[in-house]
Amino acid sequence: MTHRVLVAGASGYIGRHVVEALLQRDYRVVAQLRPSAQWTLSHPNLECVYGELTESAQCLQNIQACDFVISCLASRSGGVRDARLVEYDANNRLLAAASQWGVQRFLLLSAICVQKPRLAFQKEKLRFEAKLRASNLPWTIIRPTAFFKSLSGQIARLQQGKSFLVFGNGTLTACKPIAEQDLAAYIVEQLTDASAIEAILPIGGPGPAITPLGQAQLLGHLLQQPIKIRSLPPRLFLIVAAVLSPFGLVFSRVRDQAEFLRIAHFYATESMLVWSEESSTYSEALTPESGSKTLSDCYQQIIRGDVVSELGEHKLF
Ligand SMILES: NC(=O)c1ccc[n+]([C@@H]2O[C@H](COP(=O)([O-])OP(=O)(O)OC[C@H]3O[C@@H](n4cnc5c(N)ncnc54)[C@H](OP(=O)(O)O)[C@@H]3O)[C@@H](O)[C@H]2O)c1
Repeated sequence: MTHRVLVAGASGYIGRHVVEALLQRDYRVVAQLRPSAQWTLSHPNLECVYGELTESAQCLQNIQACDFVISCLASRSGGVRDARLVEYDANNRLLAAASQWGVQRFLLLSAICVQKPRLAFQKEKLRFEAKLRASNLPWTIIRPTAFFKSLSGQIARLQQGKSFLVFGNGTLTACKPIAEQDLAAYIVEQLTDASAIEAILPIGGPGPAITPLGQAQLLGHLLQQPIKIRSLPPRLFLIVAAVLSPFGLVFSRVRDQAEFLRIAHFYATESMLVWSEESSTYSEALTPESGSKTLSDCYQQIIRGDVVSELGEHKLF
């Protein structure tokens, strides 16, 4: 009999690829979705359950027990309250359901940036990681580096003849980005890998690590056009955040705006690679790789216009 896997955050960028990867491997999948989710995928082995996990786990109580749980839940904004509701509270409700079912594995999609927790969403992710690790369920935590989508936002600007924006000289940070399909395949492989039990797994895509300046140079080569670079000082974000912070004590919207600026500063200055305590630097060599699709492959697909990212238009298999 095939295993049943509950995927929370199934409508997200990685979640939907995890659902596909599971179906391709003949798992039975329960996609947990918000009532507002835009979801058109159907498959004989796919069941959808709808509910607001940030409010209650009612939707999970009426379904047959699952063998595995994969959480790809993530706060879409990174705002302070939303981070607590999604990264901690909703995952906590999932954990309670998983404990009742006695699942063979609870797999959490986390992020490599929690190595240096300065932001609200990182602290909430770590708080849940600690709760999961203290539970009596077999668990695996996956901490990926950057996704391709996070490095593709400036292609349209360049195609319009605008400049490529970097912070500092464009080499303040580096990452080993991973393709969504490669990450989804990696996640599904860990479910049945005994060595992944009680493991925290940082993971990137095929190296070498690339800086923002390297991304600009790669795009210049692929677009066959000279790239204008415009440099911004990352401390601007912190200055504006500091100005907003006192008002954030009274107004939650301002508190979130200050947090978004701190998020921007974090990604402008911190690499998405494994942090080496020994050398006090980010280490490309210590960052494991998986998959075969490169950032260059992804950029070429976008430039050719043959990437369809909406779930509704997505063709399965
Ligand atoms: N972006 C990167 O480069 C990067 C790198 C490393 C790690 N990560 C981590 O990878 C994880 C997944 O990222 P992703 O890009 O796949 O996320 P995403 O596309 O933003 O998807 C988030 C998922 O969580 C659900 N969700 C959000 N708010 C919710 C709420 N209030 N109640 C219930 N469900 C809610 C979303 O449902 P709806 O569709 O209904 O909103 C969606 O299914 C995150 O933990 C992220 O931090 C990201």
